[in-house]
Amino acid sequence: MDLNFDGKVVQITGAGSGFGRAAAMKFRDAGAKLVLSDINKKGLEETIALLDLDESRAIARPCDVSNPDEVAKMTTAGIDHFGALDIAVNNAGVAHGLMRTCDISLRDFDHIMAINVRGVFLCMQQELQQMTAQGQGVIVNVASVAGLIGAPFLTAYAASKHAVVGLTKSAALEYARKNIRINAICPASCYTPMVDQVLQGDKGEKREQDIANNIPMGRLGTADEIANGMLWLCSDQNSFTTGQALAFDGGMTAT
Ligand SMILES: NC(=O)c1ccc[n+]([C@@H]2O[C@H](COP(=O)([O-])OP(=O)(O)OC[C@H]3O[C@@H](n4cnc5c(N)ncnc54)[C@H](O)[C@@H]3O)[C@@H](O)[C@H]2O)c1
Repeated sequence: MDLNFDGKVVQITGAGSGFGRAAAMKFRDAGAKLVLSDINKKGLEETIALLDLDESRAIARPCDVSNPDEVAKMTTAGIDHFGALDIAVNNAGVAHGLMRTCDISLRDFDHIMAINVRGVFLCMQQELQQMTAQGQGVIVNVASVAGLIGAPFLTAYAASKHAVVGLTKSAALEYARKNIRINAICPASCYTPMVDQVLQGDKGEKREQDIANNIPMGRLGTADEIANGMLWLCSDQNSFTTGQALAFDGGMTAT
């Protein structure tokens, strides 16, 4: 299957690391023009350096997705520069350490919700205005298997990812007749800096084995496997899919 994004304008949040960076590399290889953002300026600069593209193909705008002004500026900058917004990957997100529900502080809960839920909501609002005006667009929101099933010791994270699935399905129904497709991807644990953090420490190896044992394929995924799924979901070859929360999870949610 030829996934060609020649000339398409693709905006990716959280592009300074993990899935966002992997997606940026694959969209570059498929010919897209890139609007990349991240709250982490250093990570964003590293991604831009890796891409090795000039401003005719990629721009970087630091942005905190929980801040409405910054989200509006980032989206406007891309539209002003490239003249359109064809595809948006709302990927920026944070997790919290493993702990029981009673031990999660209100501060941490609000922080997770502000980035994972409010961030996706704010990005979608900006993207949908432009896509409606253009008469076409594709959005992929990055949820998690923790948006489909319960995730013990990750309650706030799981609640935020269930909310991303709710935002995705509801908006998809609203915009289905406006030629805008909106889907979510729901990965199981993959090797990215987010999960590396969880695996750090003397229990890391055991934890990694525990996570792998919980996945029917017996292993964690990779950022490349998730980025491949993002491109496939966004491509014109996948023109009849909207409102779905698709698991990329080595079989985890099939059990
Ligand atoms: N890695 C996994 O196993 C896994 C599984 C399921 C879902 N996810 C989701 O995938 C997405 C990407 O995660 P990842 O694994 O690549 O993690 P990562 O930590 O490697 O990358 C996340 C990026 O988001 C950025 N970010 C954090 N807060 C931000 C904010 N307020 N505004 C803008 N950017 C911000 C970070 O700086 C970072 O560059 C997240 O939404 C995460 O919840 C990850």
